[in-house]
Amino acid sequence: MKYYITTPIYYINDKPHIGHAYATFVADTFARYHRLKGADVFFLTGTDENSTKNVEAAREKGYSDIQHYLDMQSAEWQTAWKELGITNNDFIRTTEERHKQGVEQFFRLVHEKGDIYKGTYQGLYCTGCEAFLRESDLADGLCPFHKKKPELIEEQNYFFRASKYRAALLEHIEKNSDFIQPVSRRNEIVNYIKDHFEDISISREKIEWGIRLPIDDSQVIYVWFDALINYLTGIGYGWDEKLFARYWPADLHIVGKDIIKFHCALWPAMLLSAGLQLPRRVFAHGFFTIEGQKVSKSLGNAIDPVQLCAIYGIDVVRYFLLREIPLGGDGDFSELRLQDRYESELAKGLGNFTSRVLTLAEKCEATVFEAAAIPAEQEAARAVADLRYAWENGFEQCVLHESLAAIHDLIAWADRYIDKTKPWALLKEDNKTAVQTLSILLELLRQASLFLYPFMPHTAAAIRERLGLSGIAGDGVAWLQWRAERIHSVSKKENLFPPLAPKP
Ligand code: MSP
Repeated sequence: MKYYITTPIYYINDKPHIGHAYATFVADTFARYHRLKGADVFFLTGTDENSTKNVEAAREKGYSDIQHYLDMQSAEWQTAWKELGITNNDFIRTTEERHKQGVEQFFRLVHEKGDIYKGTYQGLYCTGCEAFLRESDLADGLCPFHKKKPELIEEQNYFFRASKYRAALLEHIEKNSDFIQPVSRRNEIVNYIKDHFEDISISREKIEWGIRLPIDDSQVIYVWFDALINYLTGIGYGWDEKLFARYWPADLHIVGKDIIKFHCALWPAMLLSAGLQLPRRVFAHGFFTIEGQKVSKSLGNAIDPVQLCAIYGIDVVRYFLLREIPLGGDGDFSELRLQDRYESELAKGLGNFTSRVLTLAEKCEATVFEAAAIPAEQEAARAVADLRYAWENGFEQCVLHESLAAIHDLIAWADRYIDKTKPWALLKEDNKTAVQTLSILLELLRQASLFLYPFMPHTAAAIRERLGLSGIAGDGVAWLQWRAERIHSVSKKENLFPPLAPKP
């Protein structure tokens, strides 16, 4: 069982902001889930370095050595992902030799297939999108995403015969209902392929930065044609065929809604031309605003995810982003909402339940909490089985907020169970029943830690530490069974979610 998941590769003309961190956290959550389920996971992210906007940023900041600037920027992004605890298996940079080799190999295949031809192109180009736009795409003459007037370009270019694959793409989308997620995006893509998916210029004449076209070194390869191939070169294409055969096709490409067309039309057409399998699924997440406003450099509202995590903790930020914004929809990031959810759901919900159970367990004489063959045990096991079903379904259907909601339901169930059984009273009267009841509660807490792990890995580890259990390293599938691990040396330690310090 392998699972190959990717994020988009990021332009590095600036620092990562919360929108980039969101996509990366989403992919990391999937990667951790599949590892927990025992899959052989490969999680890839990286940086898209052959874009004109990176070159412009380097020049604006006074760097004449572009590669030096890119090395610095890419290192900064890699450090940010490390600091945010992202568990990518590799990091691909499109200026690496291994990527260049793979792109050249891919290009040759497409060329040999007869899918490359030379022509003249005239069109409106937006450097922000790194794409030609149609008049109908513009709003008041401006690119709707970047609010800039596109440039009129006329060049001798090489074209990719994308239109040849129109029918095959439509058939693939028709037959594979899972290919484009969420399904609400399917029609948009189908209409785009039917009405607008034409042959596309895949080289640029007047650009000096990028991978040279193998058949004409006066041209560089169009940045999207180059960037999409990262999903292959990041797992060995062109440099380790065994590795590549082990992981391709991708099981899930996570992308933002602004780049879904590239991933559901151009990319599969390129793969069909090169005779490679298509990815199993492309999922487009929505866009965020910050306190109601578009994330923008000029407004200076681009939240730095590393700084935010330094204040609230990585897990709290992960939790908030995945709980607040249903995957696939647009959302707003508000620090007040984050604080609100922290207090009401984390401190009062999970945190309070954890300290309630651990306080009671510490009061109990038992040091080992054994299985208890009482009817409540079965009921609790059933509540966990229901949760597991909903939790897995959330991942399979890409509705992660539903997985999180299912964890809440389990904690609510367990809280009700405490209220009903009143273990504090049992502790005074009948130690055996108290141990049985507490052992069920501790098992529920252990289970909650496993279900939480993909979302809140550090919190999961902190709960497990309090239960005398080891951290989760990779394959935890066996642990998901009811009572699979022995709970011992329980200790309450400090609160998982202490009150937030008032903001200065
Ligand atoms: N380099 C291309 C992707 C190439 S993949 C073969 C690119 N880079 S990007 O840095 O501009 O964007 C990367 C991702 O960040 C995109 O999926 C984009 O949707 C996402 N986001 C950028 N701003 C965002 C928000 N404000 N909200 C959510 N995600 C956003 O496109």
